[in-house]
Amino acid sequence: MAFKDRRWPRSIIHFIALYFNNCCIHGFRYLVKAMLVVFEKFLWLVLLFVSIYFCIVVCLSSIDRYYTKSTHIGLERNYYFWNTTFPSVTICPMHRLDSALFGDYCRKNGIKGTQKTVFWDFLENLANSTYINFQNIPESDQIDQIIKDIGLKPEHYMEVIYNLTFDSTYEPIELKRTRCVDGQDFIHVRQVLTEYGLCYLGNTKLGLMYSSRYSIFGKYPEFNNYDTIAHLDGSFFVPDVQYTIVGFTSPALYTYLHSAHEVMKVDANFGYTIDGMVLEAYLEEIIAENNLERHTTVTMRKCRFHHESNLTHFPFYTKNVCMQECRINLAYKMCKCIPHFYPNRITNPKKVCDYKTLRSCFPRYTSYFLRLYDENGSDKEPRACYCEQNCLDSVVSVRSAFQNFGSKPLLQSIGCSVSIKTWPQNRLKRQVIFSVTDLLVSIGGTAGLFLGFSVLGLVEVLYFFTIRLIWQSLGYTL
Ligand SMILES: *[C@@H]1O[C@H](CO)[C@@H](O)[C@H](O)[C@H]1NC(C)=O
Ligand SMILES: *[C@@H]1O[C@H](CO)[C@@H](O)[C@H](O)[C@H]1NC(C)=O
Ligand SMILES: *[C@@H]1O[C@H](CO)[C@@H](O)[C@H](O)[C@H]1NC(C)=O
Ligand SMILES: *[C@@H]1O[C@H](CO)[C@@H](O)[C@H](O)[C@H]1NC(C)=O
Repeated sequence: MAFKDRRWPRSIIHFIALYFNNCCIHGFRYLVKAMLVVFEKFLWLVLLFVSIYFCIVVCLSSIDRYYTKSTHIGLERNYYFWNTTFPSVTICPMHRLDSALFGDYCRKNGIKGTQKTVFWDFLENLANSTYINFQNIPESDQIDQIIKDIGLKPEHYMEVIYNLTFDSTYEPIELKRTRCVDGQDFIHVRQVLTEYGLCYLGNTKLGLMYSSRYSIFGKYPEFNNYDTIAHLDGSFFVPDVQYTIVGFTSPALYTYLHSAHEVMKVDANFGYTIDGMVLEAYLEEIIAENNLERHTTVTMRKCRFHHESNLTHFPFYTKNVCMQECRINLAYKMCKCIPHFYPNRITNPKKVCDYKTLRSCFPRYTSYFLRLYDENGSDKEPRACYCEQNCLDSVVSVRSAFQNFGSKPLLQSIGCSVSIKTWPQNRLKRQVIFSVTDLLVSIGGTAGLFLGFSVLGLVEVLYFFTIRLIWQSLGYTL
């Protein structure tokens, strides 16, 4: 046996020297060459350490590049063959409840006479409330009495409002139906729960999780037989594309134009409109290379896809929804409860504000909630949260917007029409420029450059210290 009592440390040294003599990293063999003087050996040792040091530094910088700078946004110009996603519109009717449904509800709960008027006024204002008008919710002893009588808890506000709102996208009579029309096609439009209560969203690319029914009850909305297409795309060869959303019974609307990959932002509307809104939009898309999702993580690409949600209240991700979640957290911090119009189907539901808290606490912080920074504070940094971009998105800008007075008799209701006259000739594309393969090549190249090291060299190390070691310890020498 080669390794025995006091002789075996010697054998180890001998074995390592053998490795140094044979190994692939240049320089090691001079450390054990018997003929060299100590000074030369020392010189080689220093050189070796310097090389290893720089090899590690350069490899670490490649790894850092892989994790933080592996994607970039490039510009594409071959616009002939693009399918451009048409922007979305969200429309919030200003009159919310359905009087027939409300009548039934009152009959079932024994609300009569003046109580009925007071309660209608209360619910209608509650349904129409958002950060800008919480102070308009009426408050009186009579309301308290009715709420107590029917046992209406704040966490059921939204459910009652939902039950008393008629979803006009399912209306069988075409002229009364909320519909999104492009010539012969009916584009999918659905009721959604927004920060401004129940609204209607047309021409979206977001999944069905963004719908009022899913937000409140966790169920997908029923299939709508009247839809013929899900989404309208445009291409360079069809220069003038337009769709119209009509069929609202409310005499006034709030209209929001936004990207088809996004939800509306409650403070970015075209104001109170009492007639048809005509919008001409222009957009620029940002798309992603097919392999982006597979080859990178969220932290590497600094953007999220729709299905990559890490939010608590929402099962999907968009940047504005992330901002809404910030607002939820901020409201919870400042007022100790959250408004009723947020989805709250989570494991530890947050307390929902009663209407008195909405009136008393929220109006004080309106601009803080909407802008997510404190105006009185010294730094105007939006400290409240950080929200990643959407990987797929479009920047929608408005070329012109006006109310078309007199369109109401023509369309038999008010609504909104969106058109695009010129298609974008540039678009941005998220691309992977430094993949795993590039990382391997880079590390391998660095190791080769500084040490002459390679994959087979690595195998040799393993071989030397396993199989070869066993042979050696069994007494065989080469
Ligand atoms: C664009 O859309 C049309 C029809 O919707 C489809 O036939 C075509 O394949 C699409 N082109 C691309 C590049 O996606
Ligand atoms: C709903 O709120 C808006 C904005 O505060 C207001 O202009 C409108 O009159 C309200 N609707 C009703 C029916 O009160
Ligand atoms: C709303 O309607 C659903 C189904 O019709 C019912 O189960 C639920 O109890 C209603 N909610 C309230 C608060 O009345
Ligand atoms: C989601 O991820 C971002 C960073 O990617 C982080 O800043 C944020 O806190 C996360 N949100 C939650 C609710 O975990």
